[in-house]
Amino acid sequence: MSTLAANPPTDRAGRTVSYLRLSVTDRCDLRCRYCLPEQPRFLPKAQILTLEQLLLIAQVFVGRGITKIRITGGEPLARRNVIWLIERIAALPGLAETVLTTNGTRLAAMADDLRCAGIARINVSLDTLDAAKFTRLTRTGDLAQVTAGLAAAAAAGFAAIRINTVLMNGFNDDELTALVEFADQLGADISFIEEMPLGDIDGSRPHRYLEAGAALAILHRRFALTETDYSSGGPARYWQLANSPTRVGFIAPHSRNFCASCNRLRITCTGDLYPCLGQNGRVALAAAAAAGDRQAISDAIDRALANKPDGHHFAAANAGAQVLRYMATTGG
Ligand code: 5AD
Ligand code: SF4
Repeated sequence: MSTLAANPPTDRAGRTVSYLRLSVTDRCDLRCRYCLPEQPRFLPKAQILTLEQLLLIAQVFVGRGITKIRITGGEPLARRNVIWLIERIAALPGLAETVLTTNGTRLAAMADDLRCAGIARINVSLDTLDAAKFTRLTRTGDLAQVTAGLAAAAAAGFAAIRINTVLMNGFNDDELTALVEFADQLGADISFIEEMPLGDIDGSRPHRYLEAGAALAILHRRFALTETDYSSGGPARYWQLANSPTRVGFIAPHSRNFCASCNRLRITCTGDLYPCLGQNGRVALAAAAAAGDRQAISDAIDRALANKPDGHHFAAANAGAQVLRYMATTGG
């Protein structure tokens, strides 16, 4: 049995696990084609952890030595009273950073509250700057909400803003330069992500798969980019844009596997603890959280670490889903 004292946990492979991604809802107001089907079946509210249970889990993880928590979803800002939770998580002693991933649709109204609640940095998903394409990709979205949200975030004074762009051949390969310029003007970083086979969408993934190296080659034609050894604590590798604070990152699960340095655990909004985004193994925390049993939650961390896989086995060429849950379920 483990103790509740802080000792940054280590897994079988010797990887120190210091980073927790906590999904607070599976719901989202957008329906990005690579992420969700047109009519997703969201979970009944009764299966979703309460804010108090999410806080309890965060407390135990921080007590066990987790130093960074990312609030994610689904769309985390779609969860009612999420600011209540964020304020309390961000104030936990021992937690160095609370960060957030969002689709940006509600940021215009919430950026200041998030900053005050203690969010240090935010990642905002944005795959195109073309309003018609944005609506086509998200099936429902309004690009103007997201650009207004990004402007509000820039004004709110976060330590850093990062735009996340999923690479899609034939969709945004012609916009990579414009997206980098947009990030530069905003004073933000930008990361390009290779699409992962999470959840069965429509079989179209391999046709539009664009490798990070090809995207970098496109950007090199236009920009002076220098490779750096900067790390934001995740799998992105960064290039510095000349004469700008903007860093251009690449997250390349296919072309450059980063599992050997994986430092994270993920918890879904139903309280399932996943040691790997790309594998199906999990440990259920919901009953322990409902019972307020901190020791059982702590023991579950040890079980998840003992079972943390060495890596994922994604293959871009495979059209079907290799992991049967959507990104919105596990937490982006
Ligand atoms: N592959 C790669 N990235 C994805 N995202 C959602 N689904 C996928 C996928 N299948 C992205 C979102 C968001 C980030 C958290 O993950 O666009 O930027
Ligand atoms: Fe929503 Fe993000 Fe999935 Fe798009 S990628 S549908 S914004 S959770």
